[in-house]
Amino acid sequence: MITLRPVEREDLKQLQLWRNSPEVRENVNEFRYLNMEDQADWFDWLTRNNSVQMFLIELVDENARDNFKMEGYAKPIGCCGVTKIDWTKRLGEVSIYIGPDDYRGKGFGKIIMNLLEHWAFNDAGLHKLVAYSWEGNIKAHAMFLTCNYREVGVYKSHTWRNGGWADVHIFEKVF
Ligand SMILES: CC(C)(COP(=O)(O)OP(=O)(O)OC[C@H]1O[C@@H](n2cnc3c(N)ncnc32)[C@H](O)[C@@H]1OP(=O)(O)O)[C@@H](O)C(=O)NCCC(=O)NCCS
Repeated sequence: MITLRPVEREDLKQLQLWRNSPEVRENVNEFRYLNMEDQADWFDWLTRNNSVQMFLIELVDENARDNFKMEGYAKPIGCCGVTKIDWTKRLGEVSIYIGPDDYRGKGFGKIIMNLLEHWAFNDAGLHKLVAYSWEGNIKAHAMFLTCNYREVGVYKSHTWRNGGWADVHIFEKVF
């Protein structure tokens, strides 16, 4: 079972390792390699700012949970959230990555998006989510379409990726 919980300061080392890995760095806005000072600044900003909600994605061993084994029952596999929340217009931007290589391409993306949307639309009362995927990010592109996002359009040569300019696909979902 996949669950989402708020990011804690203790998670930052793990998040740093994932964020600096090639597959994640190539597909997110932040191109810099992040050190722990960056991580701590980000966490402080998260905590003070109500225009963002980030979650740690965990794979929970239900058997261990049901037997009250607190150690090792939840394996962190990524991070997701809604950023740039505009509470007046009630919209925000999707952020999502799965950290370990062997957990991508296994269908978790859709499940995570469902949980994130549940928070965004039901708990937070947002009206619309916007998402972006870089040219060549087949999994993210397919995931947004499967999750019923509408492709709004394409920004041409909009980001620098793997030594060249890449298009950015824009998606939206209205609740
Ligand atoms: C993008 C990401 C969150 C998707 O999660 P995921 O669990 O890997 O994706 P899924 O297994 O749910 O697959 C999503 C879709 O891609 C398809 N897919 C998966 N691997 C594929 C491959 N190698 N080639 C073509 N399609 C593929 C799946 O079939 C699925 O499409 P479908 O719903 O039409 O069947 C994850 O791959 C990731 O973290 N990538 C790195 C960071 C990133 O790109 N973040 C997103 C920035 S917008």
